[in-house]
Amino acid sequence: MDTTRADDTLPAVWPEGFLWGASTSPHQTEGNNLNSDWWHLEANMSSIDRSGDACDSYHRYEEEMRLLAEAGLTAYRFGVEWARIEPDEGHFSRAQLAHYQRMIDTARVLGLEPVVTLHHFSNPRWFTDDGGWTDDRAVERFARYVEFVAGILGDVRWICTLNEPNVLSMMTHLLATHVRPGAGVNAGAGGGADSEVPAGASELDNGVFPAPDEEIGRRLIRAHKAAVKVLRQRTSARIGWSVAVQALVAAPGAQREFQEVRRVWEDLYLEASRGDDYIGVQSYTSRIVDENGIAPQPDHPDNTLNGWPYRPDALGTAVRRAHEVTGLPVFVTENGIATADDARRIAYTEEALCHLHAAIADGIDVRGYLHWTSVDNFEWGDWGPTFGLIAVDRETFARTPKLSLAWLGSVARGARANP
Ligand code: BGC
Repeated sequence: MDTTRADDTLPAVWPEGFLWGASTSPHQTEGNNLNSDWWHLEANMSSIDRSGDACDSYHRYEEEMRLLAEAGLTAYRFGVEWARIEPDEGHFSRAQLAHYQRMIDTARVLGLEPVVTLHHFSNPRWFTDDGGWTDDRAVERFARYVEFVAGILGDVRWICTLNEPNVLSMMTHLLATHVRPGAGVNAGAGGGADSEVPAGASELDNGVFPAPDEEIGRRLIRAHKAAVKVLRQRTSARIGWSVAVQALVAAPGAQREFQEVRRVWEDLYLEASRGDDYIGVQSYTSRIVDENGIAPQPDHPDNTLNGWPYRPDALGTAVRRAHEVTGLPVFVTENGIATADDARRIAYTEEALCHLHAAIADGIDVRGYLHWTSVDNFEWGDWGPTFGLIAVDRETFARTPKLSLAWLGSVARGARANP
């Protein structure tokens, strides 16, 4: 297959310094995240897959970064795992911090701009056992962790405090139910194990959308602000957070519900980012809001591997909306598709980028595009949906780049700024 970019469909002129990269998260790729709440959630729920060794990226990150850089990409988003840095409350690991310092250094040496996320869904187990994000001490605890991690962030240019606080705010109760002492296989009725599917990304798979918990959301906003305060003192990075923006559309007659869903799901978090340096936009699909809230997605042959509608146009809508609410420069920190058909991944991404380009042409300041994701990874309880630009053999951990990586790399290499 020809991986050369078709200039007549995707314009070659992009903003000066535009970053092209791939995004990952620690729990989904590193493996053996033993002190995290997700590890214990997986152990307590036989109905979901376990992360196990994941992609062994904890040891193989350099190979992964090298493949991205050699393809032509210029940025790499990865996360620092709180459960490794602070495996017990107040016990901080300098050795683990040094590991993430090496990741930052490796990205730099390979010519990739590191984009560092400080929290991507998983928490230390002790934190969730002791109330997690349902407890007001969470803000102080998170800020203390950020203070420690700030030690390696001095010359990092892009920091994301929390990944998708709007999804985290609905995941929190599930974690509390299944991870805290007393939850687990012997917990009895209502105790939690095996009673539900996880309220993470997988929850979106079956089209069931509990509303994000607003009280938790407001606590996450306070945690974000506390982190920003620490990071402003300790770094000169551009600081923001990443919000899941779903390109919501109102069904006829559901305007009132639409406004409310948009407020609780997205605007709360977008508005809270005013004063930050950028807003991270994570876009995959579009959803209809009817009188009952976000409508379940009916089966359709075009749906992606995790059941989401195939909507590459969602990226343009999401970017415009995020910019309209925040007034901030936008950084696309995730966009991608779960598919086993790599040609479809390329088609989706090309169309999404055309919509992104149109938003830029309309005057929106967009700083970069990070594809979700580099390696096929653990999709929060499910190894099925493959989003990666690189395949991974889960026994040998051998990485095999897909054509979509070469294609995206060629887009990045071909991109030029206006003279
Ligand atoms: C998350 C990722 C997830 C992806 C696809 C986003 O919600 O940040 O962790 O794998 O979407 O579901």
